[in-house]
Amino acid sequence: MKKIKVGIVGYGTIGKRVADAIMLQDDMELVGVTGRTYNWKIRTAHRKGIPIYVVPGHELDGKPGINIAGTIEDLLSKVDIIVDTAPKKVGAANKETYYIPRKLKAIFQGGEKAKVAEASFVAQCNYDACKGKQFVRVVSCNTTGLCRTLHAVDTKFGIKEVYATMVRRGADPWDTDSGPINAIVPVLELPSHHGPDVQSVLPKIAIFTTAMSVSTTLMHVHTVTCECKRTPTVEEAVELFNNTTRIRVVYNESQVKSTAEIMELAKDIGAPRGDMPEICIWKEAVGCVGNKLLWIQAIHQESDVICENIDAIRCMMNTMGAEESILKTNRALGIPDRGFAEH
Ligand SMILES: NC(=O)c1ccc[n+]([C@@H]2O[C@H](COP(=O)([O-])OP(=O)(O)OC[C@H]3O[C@@H](n4cnc5c(N)ncnc54)[C@H](OP(=O)(O)O)[C@@H]3O)[C@@H](O)[C@H]2O)c1
Repeated sequence: MKKIKVGIVGYGTIGKRVADAIMLQDDMELVGVTGRTYNWKIRTAHRKGIPIYVVPGHELDGKPGINIAGTIEDLLSKVDIIVDTAPKKVGAANKETYYIPRKLKAIFQGGEKAKVAEASFVAQCNYDACKGKQFVRVVSCNTTGLCRTLHAVDTKFGIKEVYATMVRRGADPWDTDSGPINAIVPVLELPSHHGPDVQSVLPKIAIFTTAMSVSTTLMHVHTVTCECKRTPTVEEAVELFNNTTRIRVVYNESQVKSTAEIMELAKDIGAPRGDMPEICIWKEAVGCVGNKLLWIQAIHQESDVICENIDAIRCMMNTMGAEESILKTNRALGIPDRGFAEH
């Protein structure tokens, strides 16, 4: 089998996880990653044997313990597809500078505007619509979480309208520059960008979102109120979430009461880096009022989009269908086979 040759531009929170995930796929080869500043992440990439290609103006040559394989241009000339995990707006600039002139396929991340790509992507929602495309955007961690659960609910009960509030972590755990440290900061924009972003994947969902940032680094939490076309029951909704891939129902009765316990659970089950790629829904917080379905879900911002990037690679390279790719990715990354009981 000819392996898909993948390069990664940017090696931060998302890039280093996508790199590890690619190395676990038997149909992909990680050709290399780009390095810019000298830091522990690049030193770790080197120790893992990952070839490092420099971005001009940020020479790592001569730094102890780092062998440079070439420049970003050298990396681009060796790959079938790039996963761009640079900070927001840099991906859009890289598209103009590097990917368009080279006619290279590229995946962007959720920090970029939807217009950077031909389509926005969540594997279990719209894989087929993104097949073979040159530019695809894996949507943000929050939008990925909303799309996974709303798509399942829409398929089973039909959605009339959704109201959701995002309680967002202030920074990633390693990030000492961002905040808030001691405040709750509302997003003074209505709707918050998350609602329109969901519609870039699920255009028929009527959704209105609000958001705020809080003083935590562990996860985001969403409260969702969904008016359904068919009256749901709590039992049906819990069964639906239990049987949907990349969603995990967690239980207050087993003392998973908060994002802190979810992160501890992820470490206890042996997930790499203590990541929780599944969207976690508290069983006790699923409720029904008439035709309204309510739930609370937690999103591990650093990891829920990693499996999406892997599926987007196969989708854009047209090597596999949605179900086969999702299952293959799940098994390689240790994500349970929920919703694939027949396999
Ligand atoms: N972090 C999250 O929770 C999260 C979740 C979902 C989606 N996303 C999205 O994923 C993308 C990346 O976010 P991140 O959190 O992984 O960022 P990050 O941790 O800051 O990492 C960004 C990486 O890109 C590199 N970089 C910066 N400027 C570059 C340039 N001009 N060319 C090439 N590489 C460059 C950085 O190198 P240096 O270290 O040298 O600066 C770093 O390695 C963003 O669109 C973000 O919105 C983030």
